[in-house]
Amino acid sequence: MTKADVLLGLQWGDEGKGKAIDAISIKNNYDGAIRFQGGPNAGHTLEFDGKKTVLHIIPSNIFNENCKSVIGNGIVLDPVIFMQEISNLIQNFSYLFTIDELKNKIIISNKCHIILPSHKILDKYQEQKKGKDKCGTTGKGIGPTYGDKISRVGLRSGDILNTDFELKAKNLYYEHLSIVTNKYPEMVLELDVKQLFTQWLDAINFLKKFTIIDTAIYLNKAISNGKKYLGEGAQGFFLDLDHGTYPMVTASNTSIGGFFNGSGVSPKHLCNVYGLFKAYTTRVGEGPFPTELFDATGKLLQTQGNEFGSTTGRPRRCGWLDLVMLKYACTISGVTELIMSKADVLNGMPTIKVCIAYQNDYGFPDEKAKPIYKAFKGWKTLIDEKGILSKNFLHYIKFIEEYLNLPITIISTGPNRNDIIWR
Ligand code: IMP
Repeated sequence: MTKADVLLGLQWGDEGKGKAIDAISIKNNYDGAIRFQGGPNAGHTLEFDGKKTVLHIIPSNIFNENCKSVIGNGIVLDPVIFMQEISNLIQNFSYLFTIDELKNKIIISNKCHIILPSHKILDKYQEQKKGKDKCGTTGKGIGPTYGDKISRVGLRSGDILNTDFELKAKNLYYEHLSIVTNKYPEMVLELDVKQLFTQWLDAINFLKKFTIIDTAIYLNKAISNGKKYLGEGAQGFFLDLDHGTYPMVTASNTSIGGFFNGSGVSPKHLCNVYGLFKAYTTRVGEGPFPTELFDATGKLLQTQGNEFGSTTGRPRRCGWLDLVMLKYACTISGVTELIMSKADVLNGMPTIKVCIAYQNDYGFPDEKAKPIYKAFKGWKTLIDEKGILSKNFLHYIKFIEEYLNLPITIISTGPNRNDIIWR
């Protein structure tokens, strides 16, 4: 039987993908996971052996034995962050990983676009130029790297062994710097640009030790031969470049289409699409957010949920769950099952609200959307003294399932690997 499943965030990212991916990887016994869009703007948090690990590039199944971790063609790869991430894993989990084991486990597409240090400078430059209309990017160079890809001047992982690679990279690097210097010279003057490039070249040399192949061919062959793979989405549906709250979005396709483009896996292999959502809503960066709370409840969600970015440390904006948004995302991405995260954060709240419609039959979460809420009685704990889902929590879940006409099959109830309710 052939099989590829995909897990996608249904909101504005930070839904808790690291843990959800780790959990379904164990349940479904995947042979590998594939990152297929975005880059180090993502921060997938995992708790393993009591240690918190944030992965930006490496797929979240890295702790699962006998699995492949594939970095697909749709990824923008920062070699410096990749090298750092590998050395952190070896340092923190020396009893699990050696460099040779990681080299055997991780497979990188030869078509990934490579982030230069100057892409990060350009990211900052573009944000500054936009002034009050800035997007609030993560500053990791994502937009400018995808920009070079679309302009067909980007550098790809498969090119790093070419003799002219260094020269091409240097030319592009200094071209970027001159763009920035023209308008904001101080942004470049404050940096040691030679040192940044040398450090980047060291990381490129490190990258050369890894398997860099046409992962699309590899994956289709493996899946046709019976291997099971999971596509690991990054960010969330409403940060999708086409379907999200443009222009306050990321530069890749976070909806289902991004999986096919960014992995090369044939649509005929697709089986389940897991849609992951938080029991409430958060957003980092600028942009519309119809159910955002500016009061003490919003603050409570932020502190109880520890809503601070895993990549940038920025506080996340918080608000009630928005089912109109979720319905939109589930429809377009063809979600087949739902996973709810951070349900425990709502414990102890007397009333919990859910957005069930926008006024005037409006259907998209932009500035014009005005939410209509339904209130639910809160709960103290998710599980009652009889060991079953507590009455009010079950009522909340059932309402969501009926509204979206989809089952919630996994509920994450805390940061640890075992804080999970399977249904
Ligand atoms: P960029 O992806 O760094 O270009 O940022 C574009 C927008 O997407 C900004 O609003 C970021 O805050 C947001 N964003 C990017 N990556 C993530 C993520 O992993 N979680 C949540 N928001 C993100």
